[in-house]
Parts: sequence; C-alpha cells; structure tokens
Amino acid sequence: MENLLEVKNLSKTFITHHLDKVYTPVKDISFSVKEGNFLGIVGKSGSGKSTIIKCIYRTYLTTEGEINYNSNEFGLVDLSKLEERKVVYLRKHEIGYVSQFLNVMPRTTCLELVTNSLLEVGEKEDKAIEIAKDTLRFFDMPESLWNSYPNTFSGGEKLRLNISTAVVRNPRLLLLDEPTASLDNESKLKVRETIEKLKNNGTTLIGIFHDLEFMDGLTDSIFDMQKNEVKYL
Ligand SMILES: Nc1ncnc2c1ncn2[C@@H]1O[C@H](COP(=O)(O)OP(=O)(O)OP(=O)(O)O)[C@@H](O)[C@H]1O
Ligand SMILES: [Mg+2]
Repeated sequence: MENLLEVKNLSKTFITHHLDKVYTPVKDISFSVKEGNFLGIVGKSGSGKSTIIKCIYRTYLTTEGEINYNSNEFGLVDLSKLEERKVVYLRKHEIGYVSQFLNVMPRTTCLELVTNSLLEVGEKEDKAIEIAKDTLRFFDMPESLWNSYPNTFSGGEKLRLNISTAVVRNPRLLLLDEPTASLDNESKLKVRETIEKLKNNGTTLIGIFHDLEFMDGLTDSIFDMQKNEVKYL
C-alpha cells in the first residue's frame, strides 16, 4: 500500500499584527496515511488539531514543511504550495472536509445544499436529488427540515447536514474535524457506520475525535499532538 498523504515537518505560525503576537501552535509535525487507512488525531483543546486539517485542506497556508498528496488528477503534489486552481479542483473531486463548525450558505435549504454538492461535480439533477434525499434519510434528518434554512438548525442537525454534503461526493480523502462532537449516541453510531462504509469503499480518512474510543476498530493509526508521534494500531 502506498501513502496517499504525507505531512512532512509541518509548522504553522499565526501573526496577529495588531497585538504584535507571533504564535506557532503546530511545530514540526510529520505523519503519513496509507491509501484506504484511517488516521485519528488526538490532543488537548488548542493544541493545533484543526489547524493541521485546515493546512491540508488549504484553508490555511502552511508556514513550513510539505503536504504531499498522491492525486488522481495531477499525480504527486505538495498541497502546501499547489496552485489555487488545482486546489479548487481537488476540493471538488478528491478531498472532502467536514468542519468543526458549520458555515451555512444563506438562502439555501438543507436539501439544496446536499444536492448542489453533487451538481457541482457534474451529477444530473434527478440523480443528485435522489442521492441527497437518501443521504439525509440515512442520517435521520427529518423530512420537515429538508426545505428549511440550516441557520436555525441545532448543532447536531448542522453537523449531520455537513457530513451529508461531504460524503455524497465520495471523496478519496475525507478530513473530519470532530464530526461527532455535538451528537447523541444514536447519531454517533450513524457517523461510525458511515466511516465504516467509506472505508470499505476505499476512502482514506483523517479525523479529529474527542472520544476516539468511539472509533475503536476503525482507526489504523493515531497521531498524538502532545507526543508528536504516530502510533500504528
Ligand atoms: N486564524 C488564526 N489566527 C490566530 N490564531 C489562530 C488561528 N487559528 C487558530 N489559532 C490558534 O491556534 C491554536 C490552535 O488552534 P486549533 O483550532 O488548531 O486547536 P484545536 O486543537 O483544534 O482545538 P479544539 O480541540 O478546541 O478544537 C489556538 O490557540 C488558536 O487560538
Ligand atoms: Mg479544533
């Protein structure tokens, strides 16, 4: 098995100009993930977990290091330095991201959000709506919410919507930032089930989990922020 992703000596520094503050929460971090594997990231609040995921997704620019990704479309690329146009392509077709918090598009309903995610990658409208509905059903999103605007959704509903929007595209690499944080036990089990299905489908996953025990048996390795090392299970 080959590495799908290799993070090499990654550092991220934030400079807050008005406070004259320089802060490096992520310092010299390295890990790799084999194709089809699931890497969990653990560490205390503020240790830089989300920052790492955002550097991989290129929400944040990397300060130092490499993020080598073996893409279908462009071959081996360094996501930290890749041109914007290619990043946009990969976000559409290969790399999915479920944020810790949901930024909802105004005036877009729940069903439209999930459907649009598929239309953007060229799915036909009828098919897109059908898959979107199946996915929302799978995550127990009440039909009464499908045509509502998610700004009024509860934390758990937003999260389930967020996950639905990412997984309908069947990404090769899925980045999950605490996808179970505000969910009840039953919904957490749904997320676990989804991850299991995705894994069986060959999706590579990197996930931040507060309660990683919940993913027991699914994770192949764990990166510990405090120790700055990977443990292979
Ligand atoms: N855009 C930013 N500008 C300045 N500081 C930032 C920025 N993003 C993150 N930080 C700081 O970097 C540190 C790491 O943040 P990060 O969100 O990665 O932590 P985390 O490990 O995900 O925490 P949590 O478990 O609470 O989600 C924090 O101290 C945070 O305040
Ligand atoms: Mg975080």
